[in-house]
Amino acid sequence: TPPPAVTINGKTYHTDEWFNVPPGVLAATTRKLHLQKDHPISITRQILESVFPPPTYRYHNTFDPVVTTHENFDSLGFPPDHPGRARSDTYYLNATTLLRTHTSAHESALFRAAASPGYLISADVYRRDDIDRSHYPVFHQMEGARVWDRRLVPGGDLAAAVLADLALLPTHAVPVEDPNPPSHPDRNPLQSEHHTAAEAAAIAAHLKRSLELMVVEVFTRAQAAARAADPAFVDEPLRVRWVEAYFPFTSPSWEMEVYYDGGWLEVLGCGVSRQGILVDAGQPESVGWAFGIGLDRIAMLLFQVPDIRLFWSRDARFTSQFEGVEGDLGRLRRFVPFSRYPPCYKDVSFWLGKEGEVHGNDVMEVIRGVAGDVVEDVVLTDEFTHPKTGRRSRCYRVNYRSLERTLTNDETNELHTRVRDALVERLRVEIR
Ligand code: PHE
Repeated sequence: TPPPAVTINGKTYHTDEWFNVPPGVLAATTRKLHLQKDHPISITRQILESVFPPPTYRYHNTFDPVVTTHENFDSLGFPPDHPGRARSDTYYLNATTLLRTHTSAHESALFRAAASPGYLISADVYRRDDIDRSHYPVFHQMEGARVWDRRLVPGGDLAAAVLADLALLPTHAVPVEDPNPPSHPDRNPLQSEHHTAAEAAAIAAHLKRSLELMVVEVFTRAQAAARAADPAFVDEPLRVRWVEAYFPFTSPSWEMEVYYDGGWLEVLGCGVSRQGILVDAGQPESVGWAFGIGLDRIAMLLFQVPDIRLFWSRDARFTSQFEGVEGDLGRLRRFVPFSRYPPCYKDVSFWLGKEGEVHGNDVMEVIRGVAGDVVEDVVLTDEFTHPKTGRRSRCYRVNYRSLERTLTNDETNELHTRVRDALVERLRVEIR
């Protein structure tokens, strides 16, 4: 049974039947890794910020993670039936209050405040998801935006003004592939009632250059750190490519991929802001762009951190490796892994109960609720329907491995028994 109310960062929220935040996730709301001195997430944030200087860009790094469904979804144009709203995907305090799933939840408020032409928000975000070495229910994003107010544009020529700002940006020498047309009538439409094609093209060009400069900064540092660790490291030249994407709050929209260490990595989403958001925020005369980037994956790459759980570790063998980097980004070095302890795989098979569907994310959370950060990954290994009875069965393989020590056999067995009991109790399944 949920507590009647929960307190997060000093504010108290009543709960209702929507409440689904486990204690471990609630506890994470106090950590604020993006602000913790010498933490890789904080260092990554500062590298990205360095590419978007004040006063054009203002930084907002202390927004509270608790937002309304309106802020997180409605204000951004998410349809009422969007899957991201489901309780299986999102952590709710009550029917209208949740832990933000992305930093875009603050877009509308910042557009409304119009305190600066550009902004960056860095924050912890929350999503229910699988368990593996690159997923954790809490991670971090940076969101950025830049707008131009038509009324302030000299001569009223918005496209020319944006291009003039573009001309002030540095250039870079990394090859960029951008094979798609600037907009696509069905997949990626120009907002023709709000922008001319020339205006949208100028905004897109400013957006793309700004973000290219940002990732070139990060990945060049990653290569330097790799060379420092291993003088024999051969850096394949960086490449960037733009691919079409879809977000309810931008159009046209793109994702950026970076060719690094032999493969294409998707690093961010972005686009020309939907005018409806600016209109609703009381800024009908402003047009511009927005982007969002995940900090944890970038930090994993930059420092070669092999498991996302390490970011939450208080083990000095982890934290001490980054000391002093924040004051001197030139000291950025790859993480040197301490010993990896043996994995321990255990299977659990069960029949789904009469009530029917059990969401995979609920299984993950029950397991994490018992085993905490000792579970490294969970894989669905089998699923079948009994031909006669029609009952459905699933098998998951749980990998128990501590980052900090070797688990004893007894300890793992005990954990696994508790996992099985919790699955039965919480999800009404029947162990096979
Ligand atoms: N909020 C989006 C996400 O979490 C990223 C994004 C931000 C895309 C701003 C476009 C503009 O995936």
